[in-house]
Amino acid sequence: MELILAPSMLSANFAHMESDLKRAMSQGVKWLHVDVMDGHFVPNISFGPPVISSVREAVPDAMLDVHMMVKEPSRFIEDYKACGAGQITVHAEATTQLFGTLQAIREVDLRAAVAINPATPVSDIEPVLELCDMVLVMSVVPGYGGQSLIPETLDKIKQLVHLREQRGLSFDIEIDGGVKQSNLEEVLDTGANVIVAGSAIFKGNIEENVRSFREIMARWREDHSKAE
Ligand code: DX5
Ligand code: ZN
Repeated sequence: MELILAPSMLSANFAHMESDLKRAMSQGVKWLHVDVMDGHFVPNISFGPPVISSVREAVPDAMLDVHMMVKEPSRFIEDYKACGAGQITVHAEATTQLFGTLQAIREVDLRAAVAINPATPVSDIEPVLELCDMVLVMSVVPGYGGQSLIPETLDKIKQLVHLREQRGLSFDIEIDGGVKQSNLEEVLDTGANVIVAGSAIFKGNIEENVRSFREIMARWREDHSKAE
């Protein structure tokens, strides 16, 4: 599967978002991870459609990977489509209508994805995997950037790789929370192929941070294809 780096704009400097995002994109980034928080599903509030529309204009080539940490997200699918989302991820814990919500995302021609919190087992989303273009495994409790990865969550990625093979499916697997250069190899070994990183990209030198992530990913890919 293609290895994708998705920097999380939550950790960018909101006062100069455009320049931070362009600095990341200049190093070959294709996806931007967009964390929408409603103050209910998670205690924090981040940003919504007006900010995302501006980001869409500032970096038109980016694939906007919208992670909705929002209660009953089906209410907002049209809004996020209109502001330029390429994919919408909804939390299994945030809705009683998971099937319908994923179907509604696909009906507006967006990629649909489901996310699970650290305490949610993979079995909770097994019935909806056929409707998913991606599964997001949260490796921290959602709400804030800059937390440490919870190692117990990594096993769920391995379970998903197994289920995907068993069922002949092709969804991407994204990991979100606490990924850094120092644990990236371990994360890639689990089978995750979409890597979200916030503070490890936007704190410090953005270009250097992206380059080092991409180098580790390229090296891992090379070692891995040799082994195959
Ligand atoms: C957490 C968000 C993450 C966060 C990742 O609720 O979903 O996307 O921004 O940030 P880091 O990489 O700093 O853990
Ligand atoms: Zn996120």
